[in-house]
Amino acid sequence: MTVDVSASSVNEAVRDYYSRVLSSSKDLQTSACCSAEAPPPHIAAALARVHDEVKDRFYGCGSPIPAALEGSTVLDLGCGSGRDAYVLAQLVGPTGRVIGVDMTEEQLAVARRHQGWHARRFGYANTDFRHGYIEDLATAGVPDASVDLVVSNCVVNLSPDKPRVFAEIFRVLKPGGELYFSDVFADRRIPAALLDDPVLVGECLAGALYTEDFRRLMADSGCADARTVATASIALGSPDIERKIGFAAFTSRTVRAFKLELEDRCEDFGQVAVYRGTLAEHPHAFDLDDHHRFHTRRPMLVCGNTADMLSATRYAAHFTVTGDQSTHFGPFPCAPVGTAASVDDSGAACC
Ligand SMILES: C[S@@+](CC[C@H](N)C(=O)[O-])C[C@H]1O[C@@H](n2cnc3c(N)ncnc32)[C@H](O)[C@@H]1O
Repeated sequence: MTVDVSASSVNEAVRDYYSRVLSSSKDLQTSACCSAEAPPPHIAAALARVHDEVKDRFYGCGSPIPAALEGSTVLDLGCGSGRDAYVLAQLVGPTGRVIGVDMTEEQLAVARRHQGWHARRFGYANTDFRHGYIEDLATAGVPDASVDLVVSNCVVNLSPDKPRVFAEIFRVLKPGGELYFSDVFADRRIPAALLDDPVLVGECLAGALYTEDFRRLMADSGCADARTVATASIALGSPDIERKIGFAAFTSRTVRAFKLELEDRCEDFGQVAVYRGTLAEHPHAFDLDDHHRFHTRRPMLVCGNTADMLSATRYAAHFTVTGDQSTHFGPFPCAPVGTAASVDDSGAACC
C-alpha cells in the first residue's frame, strides 16, 4: 500500500529544517543531533576517506555501524548527505552495496554530488541515493526481504508515523537481518502541545522515542527483544530549548534488533556461546549489547534469544553456539547494565 506521507506537516517542518534552516552541523542549537563520541579506529579511518562537504552536513546522534559487514546490502534510512553511507560503503566492500533513502533533495544532492569522487577513492561504486520516505520504502524501490542490515542515525524520531517505519524495516529485512540504529530517546512522553514546535522537532527532541513506548512499538512490530548497545545523555545547551522542554531527560541510544522469532523474556535452554575472535576489528571481545561482552574463546551461558541472535544471523560465522532449545530449564536471569542481576565480566551468566 502506498501512503502519501509527503503531505504531513511534520515532514514539511523537518524538510524545511534540513534544507533551509541548517546549512551545516554548526547551525544546530542543541547537541541532540550531533554525535560527540570518538569513533573506533576502523571507523575513524573510513571517515577520513569521506568528502568534507558530506561530513559538514552530518546531523547524526550516534554511530550505527555494526561489525561483520563485508558483502552486505545495507539500507540507511534518512541518509542525509551520506556520511554514514560512505563509511558503510567501505566496510561492505565491492561485493556489498549501500542504499540511502532521504526525503530532503538538498541533502541528497550533497550525497550524490560526491558519488564519483568516493568511487574513485574506494576503487568501486556501491552507493545508491534515493529520494523517498522511510514510512514507504516500497515506493523508494526496496523489495521485501532484500536487505541484510538497516541503519539509521537520528531520523526515526522525526517520523510522524513510527509504527509504519518499523513495519517497513521488518518488511525489507531478510530473515535473520539486523536493524542497528542510533536515535534520540526521552524518559517520558512529550506533551502534545510541543509536538509541532518546528525547532523542537528539527532538533530531534519533540519526536524523541519514549523508551517504554519504543519497547511496546517494537513488540507490536514483531520484535520482542531489542537490545540497547550504547546510551549517552544529551545536554540541551540552549537556554530557550531548556525552558521549553528541559523537564524531560534525553539520551542518544544505539539499539539493535533482529528479524527473528524471539521470546518476550529470556529463557534458559542451557545453551553456550563462544566468540571465535574472528572479527578483525574485535580480536579480543565482541559486545552484542550493553550487557553481553563475549571474550574471545571464553564460553558463556546464553538465553535462547541471545543464542538465536548469534547463530541465525550474519554473526553465526564468528560464534560457536552449542545446545538447542529442546529442553527448558526455566527463566534465564536477565538484567541490563547497572541492575543487581546484571552480568559481571566473569562469563558465568549472560543476558
Ligand atoms: C537529523 S538528520 C540525520 C541525517 C543523517 N542520518 C546524518 O546522520 O547526517 C535527519 C535526516 O532525516 C531525513 N528525514 C526525516 N524524516 C524523514 C522521513 N520521514 N523520510 C525520509 N527522510 C526523512 C531528513 O531529510 C534529514 O536528512
